[in-house]
Amino acid sequence: MGEDGPTPPSGVDITVPNVARMYDYYLDGKDNYAADREAAERVIEVMPGSRAGAQANRAFLVRAVRHLVAEAGITQFLDLGAGLPTQNNVHEVALSLNPDARVVYVDWDPVVCSHSRALLRAPDSVGVVEADLRDMDAILRHETTRTLLDFDRPVAVMMVSILHFVDDSDDPHGIVARYRDATAPGSHLVVSHLTGDLMAKARPEETARAEEIYRRTATPVHLRTHQETEDLFKGYGLVDPGLVWLTDWRPDEPVPDDSTVVRLGGGRGGPAEEAPGYGGRIPAYAGVARKL
Ligand SMILES: C[S@@+](CC[C@H](N)C(=O)[O-])C[C@H]1O[C@@H](n2cnc3c(N)ncnc32)[C@H](O)[C@@H]1O
Repeated sequence: MGEDGPTPPSGVDITVPNVARMYDYYLDGKDNYAADREAAERVIEVMPGSRAGAQANRAFLVRAVRHLVAEAGITQFLDLGAGLPTQNNVHEVALSLNPDARVVYVDWDPVVCSHSRALLRAPDSVGVVEADLRDMDAILRHETTRTLLDFDRPVAVMMVSILHFVDDSDDPHGIVARYRDATAPGSHLVVSHLTGDLMAKARPEETARAEEIYRRTATPVHLRTHQETEDLFKGYGLVDPGLVWLTDWRPDEPVPDDSTVVRLGGGRGGPAEEAPGYGGRIPAYAGVARKL
């Protein structure tokens, strides 16, 4: 570890804020640098619910994996845009429920991948592929993918908090479809996606400022409507309760419908955060769907 965070792999520019490491900061991780923390703090300033949103997203991911293993009988996961290893990663949740589970983590960030490789000590169950998720063929043909995943059996394709980093010009529908077509019947798709449906209406200035901060990272954010997000599930049937607010997807505890704030986590020992201004909802949709 360097003074300012982990020693970066060679060639990594730590002066440019990076979404993986900003997300790590929201989750109270240690794998971030000054530029990431400053950009994340600026987003938190204009969007106080950002850290709570990241934690809610991670909690959705855990609930989705639990559902897939325990109820849908899925044992294979292709986690695209997996992020830095943190608590309750896909493999931890899946392997705790089924020791035969297999997980391939894909991320294009060299810091993410070098940390993942250092931390993951189950080469028979878990692999890491450093690649751009838009490079579908390279990922699907990659030796690690082919060794760990059997595409004749169902695979869960995880696109959690990642498709809003894919511009329309990169054809997100085509990307999702390529992975869908590579997987067997009974495979699943898991998506969470930031939206402007509430946020941009309730807090247009803050939304524009947050988007502007992300524009200066390597991966600008593209907010999508409910319909636009639902369209990404073409060829899949959404399982109950459909495409809903992040916190409403099969919550472990009932979500109070009169909530005006969301309180999640304490973030670095501080008080629980609130996400005011849009009815207490985290401005992201979540859904799990089964290939038709
Ligand atoms: C917000 S994090 C989400 C992490 C994890 N999926 C989760 O929901 O907890 C987004 C991750 O996607 C990665 N990422 C962004 N664009 C990518 C791309 N085109 N290909 C692969 N990874 C990408 C970033 O490096 C980052 O680690």
